[in-house]
Amino acid sequence: MSMNPSFHSLLEKVREIVESPQQRTDKLGALCTLLRDSVPHYDWVGFYLVDDLEAQTLVLGPFAGEPTEHVKIPFGKGICGQAAETRETFIVQDVTQESNYLSCSPKVKSEIVVPILKEGQIIGELDIDSHVFAPFSDEDRLFLERVCELVSALF
Ligand code: SME
Repeated sequence: MSMNPSFHSLLEKVREIVESPQQRTDKLGALCTLLRDSVPHYDWVGFYLVDDLEAQTLVLGPFAGEPTEHVKIPFGKGICGQAAETRETFIVQDVTQESNYLSCSPKVKSEIVVPILKEGQIIGELDIDSHVFAPFSDEDRLFLERVCELVSALF
Protein backbone atom coordinates (compact mmCIF):
# COMPACT_ATOMS: atom_id res chain seq x y z
CA MET A 1 0.00 0.00 0.00
CA SER A 2 1.39 3.42 -0.93
CA MET A 3 1.03 6.46 1.24
CA ASN A 4 -1.25 9.37 0.35
CA PRO A 5 0.59 12.46 -0.96
CA SER A 6 0.06 14.68 2.08
CA PHE A 7 1.35 12.00 4.46
CA HIS A 8 4.21 11.40 2.03
CA SER A 9 5.36 15.04 2.19
CA LEU A 10 4.78 15.16 5.95
CA LEU A 11 7.03 12.14 6.30
CA GLU A 12 9.80 14.11 4.57
CA LYS A 13 9.44 16.84 7.21
CA VAL A 14 9.56 14.17 9.92
CA ARG A 15 12.79 12.86 8.39
CA GLU A 16 14.29 16.37 8.39
CA ILE A 17 13.57 16.77 12.10
CA VAL A 18 14.91 13.30 12.94
CA GLU A 19 18.14 14.05 11.04
CA SER A 20 18.51 17.62 12.36
CA PRO A 21 21.33 18.53 14.77
CA GLN A 22 19.18 18.88 17.89
CA GLN A 23 18.96 16.96 21.13
CA ARG A 24 16.66 13.93 21.01
CA THR A 25 14.12 15.47 23.39
CA ASP A 26 13.90 18.59 21.24
CA LYS A 27 13.41 16.47 18.13
CA LEU A 28 10.59 14.52 19.79
CA GLY A 29 8.94 17.77 20.85
CA ALA A 30 9.26 19.22 17.34
CA LEU A 31 7.71 16.07 15.89
CA CYS A 32 4.71 16.35 18.23
CA THR A 33 4.15 19.96 17.21
CA LEU A 34 4.57 19.16 13.50
CA LEU A 35 2.06 16.31 13.60
CA ARG A 36 -0.51 18.17 15.69
CA ASP A 37 -0.28 21.30 13.52
CA SER A 38 -0.40 19.38 10.23
CA VAL A 39 -3.22 16.87 10.67
CA PRO A 40 -6.61 18.32 11.70
CA HIS A 41 -7.75 15.18 13.52
CA TYR A 42 -4.57 14.95 15.65
CA ASP A 43 -5.57 16.94 18.74
CA TRP A 44 -3.04 15.61 21.25
CA VAL A 45 0.27 14.10 20.16
CA GLY A 46 2.79 12.73 22.61
CA PHE A 47 5.53 10.22 23.24
CA TYR A 48 5.55 7.78 26.14
CA LEU A 49 8.97 6.27 26.78
CA VAL A 50 10.13 3.07 28.47
CA ASP A 51 13.11 4.20 30.55
CA ASP A 52 13.61 0.80 32.14
CA LEU A 53 12.01 -2.26 30.56
CA GLU A 54 12.04 -4.15 33.87
CA ALA A 55 9.87 -1.44 35.44
CA GLN A 56 7.14 -2.21 32.82
CA THR A 57 6.08 1.43 32.94
CA LEU A 58 5.54 4.11 30.30
CA VAL A 59 6.70 7.60 31.22
CA LEU A 60 5.33 10.67 29.45
CA GLY A 61 7.90 12.39 27.26
CA PRO A 62 7.48 15.40 24.94
CA PHE A 63 3.93 16.14 23.85
CA ALA A 64 1.83 18.82 22.11
CA GLY A 65 -1.64 19.59 23.44
CA GLU A 66 -3.24 19.93 26.84
CA PRO A 67 -1.33 18.60 29.87
CA THR A 68 -2.39 15.12 31.03
CA GLU A 69 -2.49 13.58 34.50
CA HIS A 70 -1.31 10.27 33.00
CA VAL A 71 2.43 10.81 33.26
CA LYS A 72 3.20 7.19 34.25
CA ILE A 73 1.24 4.25 32.84
CA PRO A 74 1.92 0.62 33.83
CA PHE A 75 2.07 -1.93 30.98
CA GLY A 76 -1.42 -3.41 30.53
CA LYS A 77 -3.28 -0.31 31.69
CA GLY A 78 -5.25 1.85 29.27
CA ILE A 79 -4.82 1.88 25.53
CA CYS A 80 -1.17 2.83 25.92
CA GLY A 81 -0.42 0.05 28.38
CA GLN A 82 -2.17 -2.55 26.22
CA ALA A 83 -0.19 -1.50 23.13
CA ALA A 84 3.01 -1.80 25.18
CA GLU A 85 2.15 -5.42 25.99
CA THR A 86 1.18 -6.47 22.46
CA ARG A 87 3.81 -4.25 20.74
CA GLU A 88 1.23 -3.64 18.02
CA THR A 89 -0.57 -0.53 16.84
CA PHE A 90 -3.84 -0.12 18.73
CA ILE A 91 -6.64 1.98 17.20
CA VAL A 92 -9.74 2.80 19.23
CA GLN A 93 -12.23 4.64 17.03
CA ASP A 94 -14.66 5.25 19.92
CA VAL A 95 -13.14 5.41 23.40
CA THR A 96 -16.56 4.96 25.05
CA GLN A 97 -16.47 1.36 23.76
CA GLU A 98 -13.10 0.57 25.38
CA SER A 99 -13.33 -0.50 29.03
CA ASN A 100 -9.55 -0.50 29.62
CA TYR A 101 -9.11 3.20 28.90
CA LEU A 102 -7.51 6.11 30.77
CA SER A 103 -9.32 9.34 30.00
CA CYS A 104 -7.27 12.50 29.64
CA SER A 105 -10.13 14.79 28.67
CA PRO A 106 -13.84 14.40 27.96
CA LYS A 107 -13.14 15.98 24.56
CA VAL A 108 -11.24 12.90 23.40
CA LYS A 109 -13.32 10.56 21.23
CA SER A 110 -10.71 8.28 19.66
CA GLU A 111 -7.06 7.30 19.97
CA ILE A 112 -4.21 5.59 18.12
CA VAL A 113 -1.11 4.24 19.84
CA VAL A 114 1.90 3.10 17.81
CA PRO A 115 4.74 1.27 19.55
CA ILE A 116 8.34 2.26 18.91
CA LEU A 117 10.47 -0.86 18.72
CA LYS A 118 14.22 -1.35 18.83
CA GLU A 119 15.54 -4.84 18.14
CA GLY A 120 12.11 -6.25 18.93
CA GLN A 121 11.86 -4.54 22.32
CA ILE A 122 9.44 -1.75 23.10
CA ILE A 123 11.26 1.50 23.84
CA GLY A 124 8.32 3.87 23.63
CA GLU A 125 5.08 4.81 21.92
CA LEU A 126 3.55 7.54 19.86
CA ASP A 127 0.10 8.34 21.24
CA ILE A 128 -2.46 10.47 19.39
CA ASP A 129 -5.88 11.54 20.68
CA SER A 130 -8.62 12.93 18.46
CA HIS A 131 -11.70 14.97 19.28
CA VAL A 132 -13.72 13.20 16.56
CA PHE A 133 -15.01 9.64 16.33
CA ALA A 134 -13.40 7.16 13.91
CA PRO A 135 -10.89 9.45 12.14
CA PHE A 136 -8.03 6.93 11.88
CA SER A 137 -7.59 5.13 8.54
CA ASP A 138 -5.06 2.62 7.25
CA GLU A 139 -3.24 5.67 5.85
CA ASP A 140 -2.79 7.07 9.36
CA ARG A 141 -1.55 3.73 10.60
CA LEU A 142 0.94 3.32 7.75
CA PHE A 143 2.20 6.89 8.10
CA LEU A 144 2.55 6.75 11.90
CA GLU A 145 4.27 3.36 11.79
CA ARG A 146 6.83 4.88 9.38
CA VAL A 147 7.26 7.85 11.75
CA CYS A 148 7.97 5.43 14.61
CA GLU A 149 10.52 3.52 12.53
CA LEU A 150 12.37 6.80 11.93
CA VAL A 151 12.10 7.77 15.62
CA SER A 152 13.48 4.38 16.66
CA ALA A 153 16.80 5.35 15.05
CA LEU A 154 17.18 8.10 17.68
CA PHE A 155 17.51 5.54 20.49
N1 SME B 1 -5.84 7.49 26.85
C1 SME B 1 -4.59 6.85 27.16
C2 SME B 1 -3.84 7.59 28.24
C3 SME B 1 -2.91 8.62 27.74
S1 SME B 1 -3.67 10.01 27.22
O1 SME B 1 -4.44 9.70 25.98
C4 SME B 1 -2.61 11.22 26.86
C5 SME B 1 -4.81 5.39 27.51
O2 SME B 1 -5.93 4.92 27.64
O3 SME B 1 -3.80 4.69 27.69
